[in-house]
Amino acid sequence: METIQTDVAIIGAGGAGLRAAIALAEESPNLKISLISKVYPMRSHTCAAEGGAAGVVKPDDSFDQHFHDTVGGGDWLCDQDAVEYFIHEAPKELTQLEHWGCPWNREADGSVAVRPFGGMKIKRTWFAADKSGFHILHTLFQTSLQFPQIERYDEYFATDLLVDDGRCRGLTAIEMRSGQMRRFNARAVIIAGGGAGRMFRFNTNGAIKTGDGMAMAYRAGAALKDMEFVQYHPTGLPNTGTLLTEACRGEGGVLLNKNNYRFLQDYGMGPETPLGKPVLKTMELGPRDRVSQSAWHEFQKGNGVKTPWGDCIWLDMRHLGEKKINERLPFVRDICISYLGIDPVTDMVPIRPVVHYMMGGIHTDINAASSVPGLFAAGECACVSINGANRLGSNSLVETLVFGRRAALSAAAYVSGAKTGNEAALSARADEAQARLRELFMRNDGDETVAGLRREMTDTMEEGAGIYRTQEGLSRTCDKISELRRRYRNVVLTDKTNVYNTDLFNTLELGNLLDCAEAVAVSGRERKESRGAHQRLDFVGRDDVNYLKHSMAHYNGLEPPAVDYLDVVITKSQPGVRDYSGAKK
Ligand code: FUM
Repeated sequence: METIQTDVAIIGAGGAGLRAAIALAEESPNLKISLISKVYPMRSHTCAAEGGAAGVVKPDDSFDQHFHDTVGGGDWLCDQDAVEYFIHEAPKELTQLEHWGCPWNREADGSVAVRPFGGMKIKRTWFAADKSGFHILHTLFQTSLQFPQIERYDEYFATDLLVDDGRCRGLTAIEMRSGQMRRFNARAVIIAGGGAGRMFRFNTNGAIKTGDGMAMAYRAGAALKDMEFVQYHPTGLPNTGTLLTEACRGEGGVLLNKNNYRFLQDYGMGPETPLGKPVLKTMELGPRDRVSQSAWHEFQKGNGVKTPWGDCIWLDMRHLGEKKINERLPFVRDICISYLGIDPVTDMVPIRPVVHYMMGGIHTDINAASSVPGLFAAGECACVSINGANRLGSNSLVETLVFGRRAALSAAAYVSGAKTGNEAALSARADEAQARLRELFMRNDGDETVAGLRREMTDTMEEGAGIYRTQEGLSRTCDKISELRRRYRNVVLTDKTNVYNTDLFNTLELGNLLDCAEAVAVSGRERKESRGAHQRLDFVGRDDVNYLKHSMAHYNGLEPPAVDYLDVVITKSQPGVRDYSGAKK
């Protein structure tokens, strides 16, 4: 097997991966950096982010307010030292992006424009129309091109981490164009591979978000933290799941039930207070967990709008007018017309809550270091944990930047003292990875298909681990995923060729999703309380006595993961009541 020698290997070339590569190149210009991605960087899912990125910039805002919005929004499961670091770094990162060419919208006076976002009690979301992720990714990508020491391995599918002597020392990856496996010997590895939302049936995630990085780290001995916390975004298209950004509501769009009634006022998110005051109206700008849960209740009451795709809610933006929609939400208009044949300028748009984001991921400390020495993680695949039980919209784009950079600084410091691994041992690990692949190619007698197993997985996740959960439903889903993981061993490749074998990659992705799905379901079954995005019909309310803790799922082969708990870091905000009534204090 061809071996590539590198100093730091980065898996994933979206926001976090590119930011890490740039920071490494700047911090330690002599390091050789391998940037490995299963897609061309500009096809990373960061590109699909729409609404914007949060950072304190206006005189009426403060770090303290960003801190409290984030910690309260996360239902006090955030590590507060990490949040403190994050909010202070956020404006620096957004300004840095501007210096690299990111075209943030401006106010008439030339200052950076900010828009309201859900759960943020003041406007602080920087944006580039509704294509913020596209512009951020472009800015990072073009900046990365100036560093020759960043060697890109586009369309390389990472399969396994190489761990020897308890330390991560590289990885194996398949060059997708040739089907050949390569070994990367690295002194440190940063995983920036994104989330795993494709384990659910209705989601905003690109097809590539299959938890590859999470699963790889998990199998290599890193714990997956807080996996039960899965975010539903209130406004996805009901047919494709495509995101309609929260900025639709930030710019003034409203949510109505089938009776054209703004139902959120019945769920503790009203009444309105005048816009522009320090406390914004809440209503449609409530946090995502609460808004999605309210929609679920409306469906139970029979107040959903009936559509061919099931119960929906109306998103009404008609009153914003064509000029504003074209200026602030052009992509949204395009999406509605292209995928639903509905123009939001003239008609209401049916939407439904869809899975958008995983709050959980690879457990890291505040330095983005996992529990496996030499392995770092950043972005959605990581749980650092600034998002707690419910992430606020527009915190995640900045998280990729802040912790992408932080992972790079930590990795640079680590490699300066890291010895190279034992060559014979690394070679043996890589051979094992290749043997597993070969076994998959040789298998002829199984009767399972990727499409069939994937459908069963997404159905059971939606049924048992959706917006509201019960012990019975979660147990059923745990059993089902366990069964699917066993049946997965009987998947047979129908395409045995080498060149861009999508059958192979779909199969590997399904295996990764199933590993992550089991961590979600088992961690959810064990958390017998309701907090943030994890709502139990049988355990109503938060239980800080027993569950003010991070869950840690540990890989256990074909058996379900072992789950234990880690204390939450609390510095200055004791758990309290989440108040989105909009009432002034
Ligand atoms: O609605 C949105 O634009 C999504 C933003 C986010 O998830 O941060």
